[in-house]
Amino acid sequence: MYNLKLAAAGILALLLSSSALAAPPDVITIDDCAAKKSPVEFPHAAHFELAECSSCHHTQEGLSKETADQAKPCSECHNTPEKATTPSCGETSLKKNQFHINCVACHKEKEAGPTKCNDCHPK
Ligand code: HEC
Ligand code: HEC
Ligand code: HEC
Ligand code: HEC
Repeated sequence: MYNLKLAAAGILALLLSSSALAAPPDVITIDDCAAKKSPVEFPHAAHFELAECSSCHHTQEGLSKETADQAKPCSECHNTPEKATTPSCGETSLKKNQFHINCVACHKEKEAGPTKCNDCHPK
């Protein structure tokens, strides 16, 4: 009886620790393509109330905190995209870089969050 309780407690601890490990990162330094400009400090968790996970992780409908360990980094598809029309993180243009399209467009729309180059890429 006692051993069963201990085993159950052990399994619970394992479950708790594995869900803690899977938690999405609070702050991410985005440096996928940093070359000309400095890496970007991105307050990831501060955005969870502002948008669905899948509005940014747009290929992963239904992504949630519970399934965070399945999240794919943008770099997987946007560093050296297969198609020339796919936005790429090496682009300076506000219309051709997936981060500029995603981040800057929303900040402009909401009139909140940084929109100037140096606000995101400090010198
Ligand atoms: C809302 C934040 C944000 C703003 C505003 C922004 N950027 Fe970026 N930019 C990013 C992110 C995120 C990346 C990806 C960073 C990386 O890969 O290192 C990036 C990547 C880049 C890159 C390609 C990577 C590199 O370092 O060569 C260039 C060039 C760049 N931005 C220039 C600009 C310029 C010029 C402006 C102003 C017109 C600007 N950015 C405004 C977030 C921003
Ligand atoms: C406002 C846009 C946005 C929202 C909302 C968002 N994310 Fe992210 N997430 C990102 C960006 C950008 C990265 C960095 C990817 C990169 O560096 O290529 C990232 C990275 C991650 C990573 C790390 C991936 C890795 O292997 O490096 C996880 C895990 C993650 N997100 C999970 C989530 C979950 C779960 C949610 C919803 C609760 C969420 N994200 C909401 C934009 C977002
Ligand atoms: C599994 C591959 C994959 C992943 C992971 C991925 N993307 Fe994309 N993304 C694409 C492809 C492919 C396109 C071009 C889509 C098209 O042409 O219809 C695209 C297009 C985009 C666009 C342009 C959409 C438009 O309407 O112009 C943005 C912005 C974008 N991605 C942002 C991101 C961000 C931010 C992340 C990470 C949080 C990310 N993507 C992760 C494959 C991916
Ligand atoms: C769905 C809309 C949306 C998207 C997408 C988005 N943001 Fe934001 N972001 C906001 C809003 C709204 C705020 C202002 C939040 C506030 O003031 O409480 C903000 C604030 C910020 C801030 C300032 C936080 C602070 O403490 O002042 C940074 C930095 C930032 N965003 C970076 C990014 C980057 C980098 C991306 C893309 C990877 C991104 N955001 C994508 C809506 C968005």
